[in-house]
Amino acid sequence: MRTHYSIKINQGMDGEEVKLAGWVHEIRDLGNLKFLVLRDREGFIQITAKKGETDEKVLRLIDSLSKESVIEVKGRVKKNEKAPRGIEIFPVEIHILSKADSPLPLDVTQKVDADMDTRLNNRFMDVRKPHISAIFRIRSRIIKAGREFLLGENFIEITSPKIIASASEGGTDVFPISYFNREAFLAQSPQLYKQMMMSTGLDRVFEIATYFRAEEHDTRRHLNEVSAFDLEMAFIRDEEDVMNVLEGLVLAMIKEASLCERELSVLKQEIEVPKKPIKRLNYEHVLELLAREGKEIPWGEDLDTESEKLLGEIMRDQGEDIYFIKGYPTDAKPFYTMPKDEKHSRAFDLGYKGVEISSGGQRIHDYNLLAERLEFHNIERENFTFYLKSFRYGMPPHGGFGLGIDRLMMQLLGVSIREVVLFPRDRHRLTP
Ligand code: 4AD
Ligand code: MG
Repeated sequence: MRTHYSIKINQGMDGEEVKLAGWVHEIRDLGNLKFLVLRDREGFIQITAKKGETDEKVLRLIDSLSKESVIEVKGRVKKNEKAPRGIEIFPVEIHILSKADSPLPLDVTQKVDADMDTRLNNRFMDVRKPHISAIFRIRSRIIKAGREFLLGENFIEITSPKIIASASEGGTDVFPISYFNREAFLAQSPQLYKQMMMSTGLDRVFEIATYFRAEEHDTRRHLNEVSAFDLEMAFIRDEEDVMNVLEGLVLAMIKEASLCERELSVLKQEIEVPKKPIKRLNYEHVLELLAREGKEIPWGEDLDTESEKLLGEIMRDQGEDIYFIKGYPTDAKPFYTMPKDEKHSRAFDLGYKGVEISSGGQRIHDYNLLAERLEFHNIERENFTFYLKSFRYGMPPHGGFGLGIDRLMMQLLGVSIREVVLFPRDRHRLTP
């Protein structure tokens, strides 16, 4: 329908006939002069109609337009230093493709602020705002960069089932669903499946996965449906091999975000790309750092939100936005975690500006040890028979991680997780 997006029109095109299509962003009627601002995916352009010059039919149609209606415009490009970007369109034909009702549920021109609930309830209109759509363009770019990085590192992209028979991360945070006459669950992660893949010979796999978590959180960093880069790799020496891949992946994604110039300028933001290597802190050292600031965490416990935030500040003061925490207590981590010694494991987390964005580690590949750990965690072995079986007939040493895309996005831009997910799912929100 269009020959150009608005942004492609420039002064050099003076006199050319073009076709544009988009939404009526604003209408200004000065009697003899009528201005329309047309908005499309890439920007805005002014359409100027004049009594006596513009066709009567076009003038009448402009009078009948409502804001946010979708129109198609055929017109001539005109240089005009007084118009935005020094150009305007003299309309020859305008067609209404879809008329918008009024009043509008949300003001796209942002003269009126809306709260988050109103915005999410009207997300289809919220995303019409350039600084909101910029977020999802950056998101698309970092996902592309992540995928390309991993394909370049010889990983194979897979798709694992989301309807599963047992809790993949253990625990109770699962959504039960009815699967014909049986109980099933929405997958908390591809964990069991990506591990089973390690015994297939496809020894480096990843998935851009959806996690379903029935956590009853009500925070700016938790959702019940999240997206993540989920990866597993075999023939590793230890968790450091996995951390190296995560380091490359996350830095490639942040770098790509930093290159989204147009989007960042709309958002009035800059992104600093952390330098390699990412600091690798031991769990005990982290406890010390926190204790020095007056936050005592008993050995063996995971960091709570407050201490994660405090650690972010401590690290910021040392010039580090991003950092690994390794050597976690085995019992604080899921059943599949490889122990390192009596108390410590080969599990790690990756923190970015005070928020965990990834967890991973080396896994147990020994069948007997794995069965033992399931028992330790009071997990019914019967539910895991299909998984355990893959450890009995040749399972190489392996490890992997899950990197939350929503979490990475929120920390990149310094906003709530709800800002970076199109249609977020939380305890109170199931629509739209
Ligand atoms: O830390 P999690 O639960 O680890 C796993 O799922 C393991 N299977 C990973 C592995 O391979 N060992 O989830 C991984 C990441 C978190 O660090 C976080 O970024 C994101 O997924 N995540 C959430 N993000 C927002 N809201 C939630 N409720 C999240 N749960 C996990
Ligand atoms: Mg975690």
